[in-house]
Amino acid sequence: MLTIALPKGRIAEDTLKIFKEIFNREFEFEDRKLVLESGEFKFLLVRNQDVPTYVYHQAADLGVVGLDVLEDKGLDLVRLLDLKGGYCRVAIGMRNEDELDYNKPDIVVATKMTNIAEKFFASKAISPKIIKLYGSMELAPVIGLADMIVDIVETGTTMKQNGLKVVDTIMESTTHLIANRSSFIEKKSEILDLYSRFEDVINRGGRV
Ligand code: PRP
Repeated sequence: MLTIALPKGRIAEDTLKIFKEIFNREFEFEDRKLVLESGEFKFLLVRNQDVPTYVYHQAADLGVVGLDVLEDKGLDLVRLLDLKGGYCRVAIGMRNEDELDYNKPDIVVATKMTNIAEKFFASKAISPKIIKLYGSMELAPVIGLADMIVDIVETGTTMKQNGLKVVDTIMESTTHLIANRSSFIEKKSEILDLYSRFEDVINRGGRV
């Protein structure tokens, strides 16, 4: 039995579509249910940011999650496969009228990705004040809470609509299949079998 943690929403739906394609049967959560058992698989529906946590503690053997979330969590996990979908950037945004100057004293950064932000600024030998927010980051520079934000940019529309511009890119992200280190040893053949089936789908243009 392999337990797989999926983030609620599009990624879970696309992952289950690939399972359907591979195993030629339906994989569908019943309304509001958070666990789906089907044959040799058990799926858990969890919050996006919690996928690495479930896999790290071996509550799930495998998980599907964006590289941005993985980097921010910084947990020791096996990155099995790039599933090529969910492309986005982790970028720095500022008001259109502001200029980027990393040498400015007392920089204030608002973000939900505090670890990625800290690492990025540390690599530039800067230690800004970092304010943790849980959403609507774009508001922070507009109302003067922060000089800049570190946030996810997909289409760029949210920043644009709020009078912000991207001034730097920290990393690019796509969805990844991850594994718990112990599970990878204990259930190696099951995991590698699933891995190669997923790899075939991705190589044929499938995306999660
Ligand atoms: C993310 C991010 C931006 C938006 C960017 O938020 O925080 O607000 O998407 O997308 P865009 O470049 O296509 O406009 P999300 O919808 O994931 O919600 P959250 O802020 O609650 O995480």
